[in-house]
Amino acid sequence: MTRGSLLVDHIGELVTNDGRDGDPLGVRRDAALLVEDGEVVWTGPARHAPAADRRIDAGGAAVLPGFVDSHAHLVFAGDRAAEFAARMAGERYTGGGIRTTVGATRAASDDDLRATAGRLRAEMLRQGTTTVEIKSGYGLNVADEARSLRIAAEFTGDTTFLGAHVVPAEYADRPDDYVGLVCGPMLAAAAPYARWIDVFCERGAFDADHARAILACGQAAGLGVRLHANQLGPGPGVRLGVELGAASVDHCTHLTDADVDALAGSETVATLLPGAEFSTRSPYPDARRLLDAGVTVALATDCNPGSSYTSSMPFCVALAVREMRMTPAEAVWAATAGGAAALRRTDVGRLTPGARADLIILDAPSHLHLAYRPGVPLIRQVLHNGVPR
Ligand code: NIG
Ligand code: FE
Repeated sequence: MTRGSLLVDHIGELVTNDGRDGDPLGVRRDAALLVEDGEVVWTGPARHAPAADRRIDAGGAAVLPGFVDSHAHLVFAGDRAAEFAARMAGERYTGGGIRTTVGATRAASDDDLRATAGRLRAEMLRQGTTTVEIKSGYGLNVADEARSLRIAAEFTGDTTFLGAHVVPAEYADRPDDYVGLVCGPMLAAAAPYARWIDVFCERGAFDADHARAILACGQAAGLGVRLHANQLGPGPGVRLGVELGAASVDHCTHLTDADVDALAGSETVATLLPGAEFSTRSPYPDARRLLDAGVTVALATDCNPGSSYTSSMPFCVALAVREMRMTPAEAVWAATAGGAAALRRTDVGRLTPGARADLIILDAPSHLHLAYRPGVPLIRQVLHNGVPR
């Protein structure tokens, strides 16, 4: 890490997410921000900016916290472009393709898996993502789940054990035995590399009883809980997540009033993954209903080779605004502070003193341009831990 102080000066619009004065984005105009040892130590009016060892002139552009992508599956081999083409020709997404990726992942070398994860992580950073969660879930045996997490841990501290993604083919007629494997030897091998445990709670994957059992074992091993819930149809996942104090329930595409009420009275974040609806040509989640009920909403990419092969948070922000009727401010908050809440992190997702100096300088005067100019490479520069990338 480069030592010494760094001043980011001449910021036209600084998004702090400090939540003051009824403005969740905490926007400051004509601002500056001082970084020391990888941390934000001061923000304020540009005319009061302190001296610093080095200076970046933002040229009147907008500066935002780096995106926090709280849901991604980056450890896998192969792709499923043909499955995507079939969907665009009218096939439905069922999650059945997960087993195709499991076969390719088991056959891949560590170096191949590391290279793919590294390429996607680099893609994310170029698009402004400074914090990413990475799941296992394409190994589905003890050795391949453990190595997936070992490789994921090379890229992030927010690693998630998703041994319960689907029941692999060799256990198809004995799912109870697979749950036993996940809770026993697989969890034991995975836990040293994992911060979180996740289950795909859905018809065709794991029912509520299996999901509860697996998540309880993970909690007993010290892992935090998150879930894939209510993606393909209504189901028990969201309420189970709230019952277990999950940090986040992800997808939330098919919700009942009882699901929304449960979320509204809880500390559990609803993480919406519009890349998945885009890529599976499905109806989008009702973000307005969640926001209007007071639920904390996050946005993430769900980057994976099947249902959502995008690494772009700006694309998800644009989808959230255009297709899910979130305001640009709500979408930017959800992609930064919301992602941080979904990972129970207070050091990222904001640009206030004490936060990590993870920030984006846009090629635009305002955060509005992220949705207003979809598909345009607007990330001019990224600072990660205070280091220009
Ligand atoms: O979040 N829903 C389950 N898991 C992934 C999809 C994985 C795949 O299709 O390979 C998801 O959408
Ligand atoms: Fe996912």
